[in-house]
Amino acid sequence: MAYLQPDKEGKVYLPAIRTAKENGQKLVCLTAYDYPTARIVDEAGVDMILVGDSIGNVIHGYGNTIPVSLDEITSACIAVKRGTERAMVIADMPFGTYHINEDESVKNALRLMKYGGAEAVKLEGGRNRVELVQRLVDEEIPVVAHIGLTPQSVYKMGGYRVQGRTAEQAKRLIEDAKMLEDAGAFAIVLELVPREVAQMITDELSISTIGIGAGLGCDIQVLVLHDLVGMTFGRQPRFVRQYANVRDVMTDAIQNWARDVRSGAYPADDESYGLTAETLSELKGS
Ligand code: KIV
Repeated sequence: MAYLQPDKEGKVYLPAIRTAKENGQKLVCLTAYDYPTARIVDEAGVDMILVGDSIGNVIHGYGNTIPVSLDEITSACIAVKRGTERAMVIADMPFGTYHINEDESVKNALRLMKYGGAEAVKLEGGRNRVELVQRLVDEEIPVVAHIGLTPQSVYKMGGYRVQGRTAEQAKRLIEDAKMLEDAGAFAIVLELVPREVAQMITDELSISTIGIGAGLGCDIQVLVLHDLVGMTFGRQPRFVRQYANVRDVMTDAIQNWARDVRSGAYPADDESYGLTAETLSELKGS
């Protein structure tokens, strides 16, 4: 699929992210997985849209991100790209798509860019991804790294827990961040990391940190849109501040519509189409 994306005034590319860091200007990033939410998020002025593998939890109900496929992210990315004019579109590389070897990883990242329309890719891991990040960047693929809690390691980690709580673990995270910066990543997601550690990494790096559950100090904040607007189920993590309850709004709308259908109040005459009196009498006479 080919894209005709005009270079709109103010469109967010890498230089805008760099300038924001230099000027101490905070940016915002949200997830989206389809055309209408991408339009809403973009028109609301969000700077970056992540087609996250959280699609596995939020949209597909898999329970975690492990089963998410390249096709699922590519398809979501195509829709998001169509709905986005200003924000940078970043696609997550799903589990298993950058683990076999570098050539295959490059091929998969290129697919996300060429067919999905992604303007950058994100992948999880620290020092173990340094060579891969270098290779992707060499191939003109902008890379966002992701350390701290890396949900694709859920089975290895045995759950979703704050990472970097001990001095030794924190030091390792700081080293990882530095190595990923040196490898060429233009930003690093810090997920579920103590705020002091996130602040140290943010101060240390010249590239942007993107925090989720990592405190106020990060350059950019990211949230899963569905958490922000109350469209997820179950207990939310501490860092989620819910700004709306779209789930309740939808439930009310659906129940009101069903009640009107059942009582005969929907559809009204002006919500359907009629015949002219002439056609009606002709029809009845025939
Ligand atoms: O998939 C996702 O939504 C993410 C964010 C939580 C950073 O990786």
